[in-house]
Amino acid sequence: MPDDRILAIETSCDETAAAVVAPDFTVLSSAVRSQIESHRAFGGVVPEIASREHVRFVLPIVDEAMRGSGSSPADLAAIAVTQGPGLIGCLAVGLSTAKALSLAWAKPLVGVNHLEGHFFSAELEAEPIEYPAIVLLVSGGHTMLVHARARGVYRVLGQTRDDSVGEAYDKVARELGLGYPGGPVVDRLAKQGRDLYDLPRPMLREGLDFSFSGLKTAVRRLLAERSYEVADVAASFAAACTDVLVGKLVRAIEEWQPRSAVVVGGVAASPIIRARLQVDVPPTGARLLLPPTKYATDNAAMIGAAGWWQLENAGPSDAGMGPKPDLRLLEAATAA
Ligand code: KG4
Ligand code: ZN
Repeated sequence: MPDDRILAIETSCDETAAAVVAPDFTVLSSAVRSQIESHRAFGGVVPEIASREHVRFVLPIVDEAMRGSGSSPADLAAIAVTQGPGLIGCLAVGLSTAKALSLAWAKPLVGVNHLEGHFFSAELEAEPIEYPAIVLLVSGGHTMLVHARARGVYRVLGQTRDDSVGEAYDKVARELGLGYPGGPVVDRLAKQGRDLYDLPRPMLREGLDFSFSGLKTAVRRLLAERSYEVADVAASFAAACTDVLVGKLVRAIEEWQPRSAVVVGGVAASPIIRARLQVDVPPTGARLLLPPTKYATDNAAMIGAAGWWQLENAGPSDAGMGPKPDLRLLEAATAA
């Protein structure tokens, strides 16, 4: 059937990604090119380099996604693209590409909020989310707890006051000399270590906001003051993060009594955090939904799913739309 696929493009940070997604959120193809090697020498993402890499690889990745799904332009209902939040130069590459393809192929354009895209990652190759839901978004850019009364009807319950949890993983990895990107390495080492060191659980009993900079500082102090096993530091740090993230999620579930608890974003790829969620969430009565690991970190399939929903509910976006590096989650006035 023609016109029943969305091509989605994601270039908000350091992954160049494209995907083709069906209306029921079946992922027909998902191509992701990570720029890790280009940024490694600098110990983090260099925005200028990231933009250039997107310019080089965005069309080959789109081509890979189109071919991988056996799609031709005539099969597309629309082209979805991440509008924000993210690095402005990176977003601009994805948007320009999507606009050019939309014009050339005469297809509507849909600008997607990257945060909302992460929410939809839990519905890829899975059952739809039952609402109301509590969503915990844990990524490199964000750490937030959101109440979703229905799809698109959000209320932010809490967020980080300083670093995101992904940033904390990456900074601790750097302190430990584990290189970039550090999150997955710390996570892997943590499984081999012991939770020996007494690290703080910042703001664990104070509301639903988060703070991770104190935890990072505590790790730095520990490394300066004593001899240590890297794996044990990683295990102690992962245990502190897990206690805070899962503890706050459970508190939000107890307060709001949702039908589902959804945990998304790059840090939701952590097997340690996933295992703990499987233990602590079921007794609350909420159904736990986690994205497949490959869709927890940045990808375009989640942008395609969010794009379908937006196309059907709000229609196409303006062809004159620009990148929105600080785009926030749209909160409904009557969300709770
Ligand atoms: O969602 P994401 O791919 O990009 C953003 O939207 O920010 O998240 C990237 C973050 C990075 O900070 C990375 O270190 C972290 O997710 N991350 C992990 C793991 N895999 C990725 N953190 C802990 N354990 C992991 N297995
Ligand atoms: Zn992301």
